[in-house]
Amino acid sequence: MGEGINDYTRYVVDLRRHMWMGGVETDLRRLIWQIAVTGKYISARIHESNRKLAGFKNIYGEEQLSLDRSADDIFKSQLQFSGFVREYASEEQDAVISCGKGDEKYFITADPLDGSSLVETNLAIGSIIGIHKESVFAEGRKSMVAALYITYGPLITMVYSAGKGAHEFVLNREGEYVLSQENITLKERGSLYSPGGLRKDWLPEHLKYVECLEAEGYKLRYSGGFVPDINQILIKKGGIFTYPALQKSPRGKLRLLFELQPMAFIIEQAGGKASTGKDYILDMKVEALDQRCPIYIGSRFEVEKAKEFLSGT
Ligand code: AHG
Ligand code: MN
Ligand code: MN
Repeated sequence: MGEGINDYTRYVVDLRRHMWMGGVETDLRRLIWQIAVTGKYISARIHESNRKLAGFKNIYGEEQLSLDRSADDIFKSQLQFSGFVREYASEEQDAVISCGKGDEKYFITADPLDGSSLVETNLAIGSIIGIHKESVFAEGRKSMVAALYITYGPLITMVYSAGKGAHEFVLNREGEYVLSQENITLKERGSLYSPGGLRKDWLPEHLKYVECLEAEGYKLRYSGGFVPDINQILIKKGGIFTYPALQKSPRGKLRLLFELQPMAFIIEQAGGKASTGKDYILDMKVEALDQRCPIYIGSRFEVEKAKEFLSGT
């Protein structure tokens, strides 16, 4: 056997091995694996629907489901009979869906396709998943056991946390998720800012906060996709993403259960923070599936600084 092959087998750590070595509980390991694999099917669906062929219809000439809806169908059908999922709550569904026999261990939340309006521009998009050990109508800190997101960009990457750090994997040509970064750790303070919402709709205290970041030389990085925008902060090891309260929507835009909780779980595991500008996201009790919250998420310094501005201190 050549040296190269030995080197390869010695250094490549795939997702299953990583979770096993990290002591992630068996069923949770299987579930995370299954969700990561589902990302491959969704990626195939994105490619299929985005072939940029004018007048493209499927072979039966039928209307195509929107990409968000078909990503949801894919997750639902993959998780429904997994044997590990009791309830599936999705941004694409009005109500929680019961799965299996009712004695399964986990409750799943999904934003099956985040940033779907970016598909035609060929920017990165993603899937966001939360894994809970009890009903999702609770504080994330009490109910969550894991979270992951998949980024469909030039590469397909997946970041998961099962409560023992945040780790990034890349999907290789053989179709395996291979470890690229273990225990990603954010710096106390970063240099990127990613501000959502129109400036003219911001509240004065938020505007002052952003002006402070700008005066300090923070670089603007906003793609309009929550997954790649958060991923950028994580991989660059710092900075702040915000989607604040707006004049006409005091609860902001992004959804607590499907978008904010999973990202807050991962960012906290990377040593960062996530708040509404007042309370930590993981301390917010979920009262409704479509509940929205303002969000300040990223390095500790910037998140705490936002609190100071918003509380007027
Ligand atoms: P979704 O595609 O799941 O509805 O989410 C879109 C979200 C999120 O990806 C992004 O952070 C935000 O919308 C962008 O909003 P703006 O277009 O207002 O910037
Ligand atoms: Mn979304
Ligand atoms: Mn979505």
